[in-house]
Amino acid sequence: MKEKLQAILQEALTATQSVQTQQEAEELKVRYLGKKGELTAILKQMGSLSAEERPVVGQMANEVRAQIETAVREKLEIIKEKAIEQKLAAEALDITMPGKSNKQGRLHPLNTVLDDLIDIFQSMGFDVVDGPEVETDYYNFEALNVPADHPARDMQDTFYLGENLLLRTQTSAAQIRTMKKRKPPIRIICPGRVFRADEVDATHSPVFHQVEGLVVDKGITMCDLKGTLEQFAHEIYGPETKVKFRPSFFPFTEPSVEVDVSCSECGGKGCRVCKGSGWIEILGAGMVHPHVLSECGIDPEEYSGFAFGIGLDRLTTTRYKISDIRLLFENDIRFLEQF
Ligand code: DAH
Repeated sequence: MKEKLQAILQEALTATQSVQTQQEAEELKVRYLGKKGELTAILKQMGSLSAEERPVVGQMANEVRAQIETAVREKLEIIKEKAIEQKLAAEALDITMPGKSNKQGRLHPLNTVLDDLIDIFQSMGFDVVDGPEVETDYYNFEALNVPADHPARDMQDTFYLGENLLLRTQTSAAQIRTMKKRKPPIRIICPGRVFRADEVDATHSPVFHQVEGLVVDKGITMCDLKGTLEQFAHEIYGPETKVKFRPSFFPFTEPSVEVDVSCSECGGKGCRVCKGSGWIEILGAGMVHPHVLSECGIDPEEYSGFAFGIGLDRLTTTRYKISDIRLLFENDIRFLEQF
C-alpha cells in the first residue's frame, strides 16, 4: 500500500508539471483527491490493514494528499500569473505609435488682412457696409460719373449679365448706395469681391478684392484724405513706411491720386516684390466729384468728401511675400496651412 501511495504521488507530481490550464489543474485535483479519486480509493482499503500499519499508512496518505494539493496550488498560481502577464501584454499601449492629429482650420490670409484693415478703420470711426456683387450699370458706372459712352469704361473690362446688369468691377458702387441711404456725416468702408474680364497671370485674376472707403461731411479736405490714408498705411506696414501720393485720374474723384508705400521687403532699394521700383501701389483715392455728390442728393456746396479703393489682394501678397496672386484663389491646403 505504501508503494501504491508513493506511485500515486509520483504520478500526480509528474502530471501536475505538464498541466497548462486552470481547468486541467482542477481536473487533476479531482482525479487524485476527489471523492472518486485514486487516493480516496486507496484509503477505502485501509480496513484491511493491521492495527499497527493503519496509522502509519494513514499519516503517509495525509502527507501524499498535502503534497499533491501544494503542487496543484503552486501550478495554479503560475498559470494565473501567466494569464495576467498575457493580458497586460495584449492591452499594453504602444506609446511610440504616431498620434492622430486634429486638423485645425485657419483664416485665409485675405481674411486675416481684411480683419486687420477693418480694425484700423473702425478705430477711426468707420462703419462696415456690404453691397451686391451683381450690380446695375447705374451704380457701377453711371452714378460714378461714367456715362455709357465714356472712354473710362475701357479702364475696366466688364462681365455683363444683361443690358443693365453686370458683375461689379469695383466696390465704388457702394459709395452711391450709401449716399442714397444715409445723410452726412458718412464714414464707411465696403469690402468685397470685384470682377473683371482680365487674363489670368501672376498679378491678375478675373476675381479679386477691394475695400472701398467713403467720408462725406462739411469741410472735408485733401488733408483729411492724406492723414487718414497715411495713418492706415503706417498701421498696416509699420510706422517707418513712407507714403507717396501721385496724381492720377478717376472719373468719380477730382483731384485723384494713387497711393504708393515704400516696399517693406527692401525698404525702398528695389527688389523682386516691388519689381525694382522701391514702391508698391496699394490704392486709388480722391476728393469725391461734385457730380457724384449731387447725383446722390448731397449738395456739393455744403458738403465735400474723399473716397478710396484699396486693393486687398496686393496688400495680402506684399505682406506675406506671396509671389503669385493665383495662390490666393486655388485653395491648395499646402499653401493655406502656412498661415
Ligand atoms: N474703383 C477704383 C478702381 O477700381 C479705385 C478707386 C479709386 C476707388 C479712387 C475710389 C477712389 O473710391 O476714390 O480702380
